[in-house]
Amino acid sequence: MAAAFLASREPVAYFPGVQDQFGHLISYLRLSITDRCNERCVYCMPQELQEWLPHGDILSYEEIARLVRVGASLGVNKLRVTGGEPLTRRGVLELFRLLQEIPGIRDLGVSTNGSLLARAVPDHGGRSMAACLRGYGVRTVNISLDTLDPAAYARITGRNFLAQTLAGIAAAQAAGFGPGEIKLNCVLMRGRNEDQLGPLIDFAGERGLLLRFIELMPVSTTDVLSDENFLPIATARRIIEKHSGSLVPAPAFKTNGPAAYYTLPERGGQMIGFIGAMTNLHFCESCNKLRLTCEGKLRPCLGSYLEFDIRAPLRAGASDAELREFFFEVVARKPKEHDFRDNYQPNRKMVAIGG
Ligand code: 5AD
Ligand code: SF4
Repeated sequence: MAAAFLASREPVAYFPGVQDQFGHLISYLRLSITDRCNERCVYCMPQELQEWLPHGDILSYEEIARLVRVGASLGVNKLRVTGGEPLTRRGVLELFRLLQEIPGIRDLGVSTNGSLLARAVPDHGGRSMAACLRGYGVRTVNISLDTLDPAAYARITGRNFLAQTLAGIAAAQAAGFGPGEIKLNCVLMRGRNEDQLGPLIDFAGERGLLLRFIELMPVSTTDVLSDENFLPIATARRIIEKHSGSLVPAPAFKTNGPAAYYTLPERGGQMIGFIGAMTNLHFCESCNKLRLTCEGKLRPCLGSYLEFDIRAPLRAGASDAELREFFFEVVARKPKEHDFRDNYQPNRKMVAIGG
């Protein structure tokens, strides 16, 4: 399969998509644009003093846009900008301006901790960051929210930003992001937020937001990633059913990702998503993703050591055709599934991979 595609890598304006050897059609590129963050989540960042990547190692906005253009010519039509915390990167709106203009990109999203969404942007007439993002064509915002308890929020994220994050969620709604366009992501942790599943469902339900629960993944070097902290989705579902009534599978409801959705009939049909990278054995089956790290590594899978340095050819003056070829080579090496269950330890921080 890959060989057939490799044989036909003429530059084309539009390509149906690059297929890997397992039949995954790659149409989704996640862009981590910084390894920096203004929070220190226990499951993401090591608590000790952080060594940031030097600025020169990080792809410039022009370099990112060039690689996205190459990806788009191969069938990438969906982008998600992540970090670290993407909104901490200086002049980030310039990147969105560039991305918005790339032909073939039909869907642009951001993953953020939400703490900066309500901030007024001085050179955009004091409009909120959320409103500016929407103005630059961002369609969906995924916001991390693991708890509604201020003390627990501070313990989990290392920062006292709950009020700021809630203001960020309100700012996104005020900016016009509608139902289904704001997703709340809650990482499940035994002993840290299992008491919050019900309150989070109430919060999301009252605001018409789509809440998703995510199993803790071993994508950091922190010691929170132990069996004691792991809260499987099956257990979370039991806790939720006690609080909110039965969960009914909604297999027809699909967002473009690995989440499985359920409805809560006793809550007016509120939809809840579960992202079970560890316990869902079908997790990787419909994977359509590639990742670009902030320092220019293309990664075919979050849960694998594999990464390929596309910054080197990019900075050495590679042509679009050569960069396209690089994409093909990476896709051809995309694994069938992640290695998390085999005790994969990334030796690289989540912040630098981009969720
Ligand atoms: N396990 C699961 N999810 C994680 N995230 C960050 N680190 C982990 C982890 N170790 C989530 C954040 C955010 C998204 C970008 O990734 O909560 O919602
Ligand atoms: Fe920052 Fe997100 Fe990592 Fe938390 S999970 S430290 S908010 S990048």
